[in-house]
Amino acid sequence: MEGARGSLFRTRLKCDVRNGVALFYFEAILIQNHSHTKLFMPNHTSVVIFGGSGDLTKRKLIPALYSLAARGMTDKTFSIIGFARTKKSDDAFRNDLTKAIHEFKKDVNDAVWQSLLKNIHYVSGGYGDAAAHQALHQKIAEINGVAAEEVNTLYYLSTPPEEFQNIIEQLGAIYNRANRREDVYRRIIIEKPFGYDLASAVHLNDILATYFRERDIFRIDHYLGKETVQNVLVFRFANAIFEPLWNSRFIDNIQITVAEDIGVGSRAAYYDKSGALRDMIENHILQVLSYVTMEAPIALTADAVRDEKVKLLRSVKIYTPEQANGNSVRAQYSGGVVDGENVKGYREEDESVKDSQTETYVLLKLEIDNWRWFGVPVYVRTGKRMTKRATEISVAFKASPSVLFNAGADQTLEENVIAIRVQPNEGISLLIDAKVPGGTATEIKSVQMDYRYKENFQRDTPEAYERLLHDAMTGDPALFIRRDESETAWHIVEPFLTAWQQPEAPLYTYPAGTWGPNEADELIHRDNRHWHRV
Ligand SMILES: NC(=O)c1ccc[n+]([C@@H]2O[C@H](COP(=O)([O-])OP(=O)(O)OC[C@H]3O[C@@H](n4cnc5c(N)ncnc54)[C@H](OP(=O)(O)O)[C@@H]3O)[C@@H](O)[C@H]2O)c1
Repeated sequence: MEGARGSLFRTRLKCDVRNGVALFYFEAILIQNHSHTKLFMPNHTSVVIFGGSGDLTKRKLIPALYSLAARGMTDKTFSIIGFARTKKSDDAFRNDLTKAIHEFKKDVNDAVWQSLLKNIHYVSGGYGDAAAHQALHQKIAEINGVAAEEVNTLYYLSTPPEEFQNIIEQLGAIYNRANRREDVYRRIIIEKPFGYDLASAVHLNDILATYFRERDIFRIDHYLGKETVQNVLVFRFANAIFEPLWNSRFIDNIQITVAEDIGVGSRAAYYDKSGALRDMIENHILQVLSYVTMEAPIALTADAVRDEKVKLLRSVKIYTPEQANGNSVRAQYSGGVVDGENVKGYREEDESVKDSQTETYVLLKLEIDNWRWFGVPVYVRTGKRMTKRATEISVAFKASPSVLFNAGADQTLEENVIAIRVQPNEGISLLIDAKVPGGTATEIKSVQMDYRYKENFQRDTPEAYERLLHDAMTGDPALFIRRDESETAWHIVEPFLTAWQQPEAPLYTYPAGTWGPNEADELIHRDNRHWHRV
């Protein structure tokens, strides 16, 4: 059954007995919703958060689940269960979350929160401990008042990745895949990092596939939940003025910047195992890149969109390790000044990283070997402790011939740039050349046409996690990463990992509070190009 504006509903016949009278009715279950309107949550839904005592749960997951409840998308049979090793009672967990919701969410409606809070529970135990998982299974049944097999369950893996396999195997031991009920879902969301390299990502995918169907696996990349990232497809494919120009004939280069002004602080020991390439490029930046450069999908369905993303990722040139070295710059921040404050260098953040070779900054020059993008370099860069926090996509057009306006003067025309600000100041700018008023000579200057989300729509954009949890509960994986996508992304970054393992691979430094090392500027200047203002 097709509902309003792209929403798909399944109906099922239900029967309730009230005062001895049997009431038969059809219940509509939303199974796909592209317009993000009202959700009819199926009865008996439990969200289980592994790592429920952690930072992500408090800062993002609980506020997102609260928002769904506040929008009327949950009913009284909806419950949340935190699972972690730390011993805690239900009440202690509820107290922790009450503090957190007021810290991380504005304008909390107390009635909504209190009603949700009653359905929040906690189970403590080891992630690989069979008895603890049995206790969780029983808790799900007890809370819902039906067998756990009858409860729609969304498992959220929000622990460090070392625990992912343990959890998946324990879930697999409890639920027999062969006896799965088609009308009850059992889905799993897995946080990043998804793997440490290609081999470990394939291994994790194999373990998942042993116990879960691909359509029940939701590999999360919260960038895909951002409105500004989703708007890339709308911007490209709903506006006839841009798409005809979106190719190597008119576009000179593409730049994607994910800059953070914060350092690693107390998370240095954790971050050191990953580094900027694994932390940002393999997932967020390659996802954004695929939205910016993929072909139009035939529909906005999960598989149609992801098919095109995979096709694009497969066209990114796989470098040899030597080529990877020549087309990349990696660096670590040294001490410097951010926002007027002196800050430490990376190696001073923690004793355990004092000799670290892990990069906190990466620039890659990527090439897309397909008909649309042949010859258009894509510069992607990310770093911690940079000048400011900003995620931006700049699409630079080829310069116009300047002969017409260059009579005697020594001016070259600035190229047109479309800048998509993913965060903060979400919006889109178009940089165009304009005549400076007055004067007899034609003086030309770049001016900016600007669109800002907040001013145009007069409302805050919803948090990425809210959209993603909603989609996982309604079974729409369009904004999650499919197995082939995750493995193709690892395939792209693998040569850089190999190249950087060589002892002679350079690791540069950059002072905290800057845009990165000089070598990054040299790489782009070598191509006669420059960074666009972020
Ligand atoms: N925080 C964020 O903003 C963010 C953003 C994007 C992705 N993520 C990803 O989301 C997941 C959770 O992030 P988080 O920031 O919430 O992590 P976290 O606070 O460090 O850890 C979550 C929970 O996992 C358990 N844990 C911590 N270290 C462990 C260890 N060495 N072995 C076993 N259990 C351990 C702890 O619970 P117990 O000790 O009680 O078991 C902890 O409360 C990670 O995979 C992270 O990469 C986080």
